[in-house]
Amino acid sequence: MNQEVKIAEDVYWVGKNDNREVPFHRLILAKGTTYNAYLLKTEKPTIIDTVDFAFGREFVENLSQQIDPKTIQYIVINHTEPDHSGGLAALAARAPEATIVCTEPAVYELKEMYKLHQRNFLVVHDGDTLDIGGKTLKFKETPYLHTKETMITYSIEDKILFPCDIFSTHVANEEFFNDEASIDITEDFITYYNLIIHPHRRYVATLMDALEELDVQMIAPSHGYILRENVQKYIDLYGEMSANTQENKKATIIFTTIRKNTRKVAEYLKSTLEKDGIETEIFNTDKADHDEVLASVQQADAVFIGSSTKYADMIGNLEDILKALTEMDLEGKIAASFGSYGWSGEAIEVIQDYLYETNMTVQSTSQVIKTTGMTHVEFPIRVRFSLDDEQREKVDHSATFVAEQLLSV
Ligand code: FEO
Repeated sequence: MNQEVKIAEDVYWVGKNDNREVPFHRLILAKGTTYNAYLLKTEKPTIIDTVDFAFGREFVENLSQQIDPKTIQYIVINHTEPDHSGGLAALAARAPEATIVCTEPAVYELKEMYKLHQRNFLVVHDGDTLDIGGKTLKFKETPYLHTKETMITYSIEDKILFPCDIFSTHVANEEFFNDEASIDITEDFITYYNLIIHPHRRYVATLMDALEELDVQMIAPSHGYILRENVQKYIDLYGEMSANTQENKKATIIFTTIRKNTRKVAEYLKSTLEKDGIETEIFNTDKADHDEVLASVQQADAVFIGSSTKYADMIGNLEDILKALTEMDLEGKIAASFGSYGWSGEAIEVIQDYLYETNMTVQSTSQVIKTTGMTHVEFPIRVRFSLDDEQREKVDHSATFVAEQLLSV
């Protein structure tokens, strides 16, 4: 049985200390980690997050020493990744009355991952509150920090923030609190930020806005130490580490188009990059001077190349430009292909093949997933037909992903 770890009145740590060398996101967590779950022993007992899938049964057995699971009324899932939601199946089976509280995108994932199609879900939105009998929980959505469905939970009476992955450290320990740690945790805190949060740093701004309206006296994350001393220092570190460190970056967008749809994608890419502070030049290769286009590429830090598709290939004279790029030294630049299409969009893939023949760093969905775990950022940027709101969001994610790389080198 776990020792009883009280972190505030009627609030208990009920997690798992994992002092293995933990394989995670293609890394080995040499210092191990913890999966912090919390029990709020109120009139409507509530669990906030669970533990890694491997420890689900152990988690419920330990929890049963502190409370009869049948009495649990709410299970809050801030983030669906299995190192936090992994105990949900075991817990839900023993807590038949419990309603699962999460954001809208999390519902589908949790139902499918843990076969919870018959369970009650309470979908919460940004700013919603939930009375759990003696305490009030407030929920703030923090999408893409680090996956789409993530939210943070704040206990209003306790002034405790439960942000799941955010503000975590990967250190197995039984000291629990930062002020009782035998080490200065700052380096581990920064390492965690760099590994898990930094690729998503654009979204830290949403978090900072959310925190503006919360009086946070303690941060109880889901890995590593609970922060109850110098709390503001750790919040400020996130603000500082997510700020841009680079400026004066440039992008070049080159396109050809049949019915103006690819042009619209190109123009939307330009506006997104400029919103992110990237100076951007745009060229329609059928109208522009090719020497001018190549000179712009030479000056750029990122290059986007797009075409409509006709007869399963590029159109216009874009291929001349692409051939020229394969002869140039473009090392250090980022490249991505894009285009609007109606049927198969082969031109976008042909451009991608040409880009691989240059010495630029070509963006690909596969690489993004492998290095960041993000599934909402896609390369090449393929837009079917014209830009609607959903496709705009997709282009926005991809353009911003490139901008973030340029601005934080
Ligand atoms: Fe600790 Fe995103 O999982």
